[in-house]
Amino acid sequence: MKNQKPLVIVVANQKGGVGKSTICQNLGYCLSHNKINTSIIDLDPQGNTTKSYPIKTSDEIIRMFEGESIDQIKINDSSLSLLPSHKSLAVVANKMTTDYNLLFKLRDYVNNYCDTQIILIDTPPTLIGLTVSAFASASHLLIPISSTFYSTHGVNDLLETFEMIKERLNPELKLLGFCVSIFDTRTSLSEEVVKEIQSSFGDLVFDSIIPKTVKVEEAQSSLMSVCEMYPSSKVSKSYFSLSEEIIKRVEI
Ligand SMILES: Nc1ncnc2c1ncn2[C@@H]1O[C@H](COP(=O)(O)OP(=O)(O)O)[C@@H](O)[C@H]1O
Ligand SMILES: [Mg+2]
Repeated sequence: MKNQKPLVIVVANQKGGVGKSTICQNLGYCLSHNKINTSIIDLDPQGNTTKSYPIKTSDEIIRMFEGESIDQIKINDSSLSLLPSHKSLAVVANKMTTDYNLLFKLRDYVNNYCDTQIILIDTPPTLIGLTVSAFASASHLLIPISSTFYSTHGVNDLLETFEMIKERLNPELKLLGFCVSIFDTRTSLSEEVVKEIQSSFGDLVFDSIIPKTVKVEEAQSSLMSVCEMYPSSKVSKSYFSLSEEIIKRVEI
């Protein structure tokens, strides 16, 4: 058991393909690069974050939901560790609809047994089950948002879920901010959308905007984060500055 409450950032948006997993992967790299002990919990049964690391499959996350003591996987001797996804997480999600104790297993784990300074939780594209359990466990919510026409649709539902969880399950949950996570610099529509996001959410929108580039997928297909593979590229610099903005907002 440990004493200090961890900083737990849940990365969520019920839309798929908005850059949740890629943000977790790159923030994990940037924070650990700055010598901040960081762990990533991949709560999405699809396991896209997990698939971007050269590791073997493991059922530790399922055993965590069974209340067993577990180990995370160290990444490259760095300050980063991962609790990988497992396909049976989908079964856990189904069981959560009838077994409410399961909703709080993750909270017990992060509060009592996960010994890193920052924990990033990647979530599936839904606002129920596993995502609720992540909201119940977290101190902060980070919302990635892309710059496409429909990107802001559904944000109200997400914010309603945030308020409901804050009221009923986790009063400590704070809205860390919105990050424009896939910004297509070639279209003027993208710029319009970003302006709309900034006028709707004001200071909650991070100044660091992540540009859209094929380098991201190129790196992921080589089982690396873009920040590791192309550290001086524009996109990597944006992830690094996002991580610095986050550190300022959470005051560590
Ligand atoms: N900044 C970016 N530029 C280009 N492609 C990106 C960027 N961020 C994410 N992607 C790609 O977009 C797709 C969806 O991203 P992902 O992080 O998996 O989203 P989510 O977890 O929200 O479903 C992936 O193929 C990923 O490689
Ligand atoms: Mg994902």
